[in-house]
Amino acid sequence: EIDNKWEMYFPLFINFIASIGSFFITLMVIPGLKSTFLKANLFGIDMNKKIGNKIPEAMGVVSGCIFITTLFMFIPVPFKNYLTENENFPHHEFVELLAALLSICCMLLLGFADDVLDLRWRHKLLLPTIASLPLLMVYYVNFNSTLIIVPKPLRSWFGFSINLSLFYYIYMGMLAVFCTNAINIYAGINGLEVGQSIVIAISIMIFNIIELNGVLHKAHQFSLYFIIPYIATSLALFKYNRYPSQVFVGDTFCYLSGMTFAVVGIIGHFSKTTLLFFIPQIINFLYSVPQLFHFVPCPRHRLPKFNKENEKLDPSTVVFKKTELNFIGRFIMSIFRNLKIVNWQEDNEGIVTCNNLTLINFVLIKIGATKESNLTMILIFVQILSSITAFFIRYPLASVFYDV
Ligand code: UD1
Ligand code: MG
Repeated sequence: EIDNKWEMYFPLFINFIASIGSFFITLMVIPGLKSTFLKANLFGIDMNKKIGNKIPEAMGVVSGCIFITTLFMFIPVPFKNYLTENENFPHHEFVELLAALLSICCMLLLGFADDVLDLRWRHKLLLPTIASLPLLMVYYVNFNSTLIIVPKPLRSWFGFSINLSLFYYIYMGMLAVFCTNAINIYAGINGLEVGQSIVIAISIMIFNIIELNGVLHKAHQFSLYFIIPYIATSLALFKYNRYPSQVFVGDTFCYLSGMTFAVVGIIGHFSKTTLLFFIPQIINFLYSVPQLFHFVPCPRHRLPKFNKENEKLDPSTVVFKKTELNFIGRFIMSIFRNLKIVNWQEDNEGIVTCNNLTLINFVLIKIGATKESNLTMILIFVQILSSITAFFIRYPLASVFYDV
């Protein structure tokens, strides 16, 4: 028993120490690389400032590389006891660790490619799908368990469990696509991309720690190996990305984060709980659907609009002719208007001015013009409240649907 506890905590302890190291390395490395990135033309204009400064972009590649390197060096630690004896080596666990790393590494590469090449939207769906392939293939060889437990209220129709087979793989692939893009489109004000990701990561970490004494402790231990160094490197990145941003994180960081969450959720068999930590991102996605699927025109940038007079942010808008909308567009927007969740102004000529459909703009409509720094803090606070709600759903409420 005591031996087992030590077996469990020793790798986590090493991982924690390594993560502290990676935090300081990230902190040290980023400032020196700013000019390198600017020279390579990797920069973005900070649009919500009086003077639009050139800010080095895609710095997520730096924190990401340090995150991955930390994990590379960590590979032998959980297997140290098997290094001297060849019997009983847990090849299953080993290959999972490698596959998870391969998927995250692949996502880092593709995310960076997106930042450098500024890819089109359809590629944004393709990249995470490609990056999740190594993981899904290993999942197929290793477990191939695609059985899901049916929630109690539905059991009279579907029975206790159903085998989703191929559909389960489609679900897992879509999870990677969702997690990566959902973070990427909930962005545009200083510090929000990293801030939300850190809150999600800490929520996953707390969940793993709670479950560490349960029957599935191996899976949660595995997840912690990834989440702890992820949090460490992202915290260091946050120091430079928070308001006023000295660096932008780029799509590289959003993809890397989403992929990390999807990977630990899939391998740890807690993908539904992972999704629970994405409540603001899910709301932002659903609200964005009309623009994402072009039922309503979607400008390249939907981030809030800077007001030079009071230096606050207002909701940004999109202007179009009402006749431009097709049947579906008009139908959805009439629902949105009835629910009073959009700011819709129409003049005599049928020219419509509507806010861009993002959660950030929605919050601005509700609370009025806000300073950028405060807005980020409010949205991160909303993210924390959502996580608390998620824990409430996961623990007391889950017993209504499952035997937990
Ligand atoms: C997504 C959003 C887009 C939003 C953008 C902001 C969708 C469909 N896409 O696009 O609406 O405008 O993210 O990140 O919702 N920037 C700032 N301040 C910040 C962060 C970013 O001004 O705090 C600007 C900078 O000019 C930066 C650019 O946004 O260069 C980065 O945009 P990018 O990540 O390339 O946009 P997408 O992810 O394609
Ligand atoms: Mg982006």
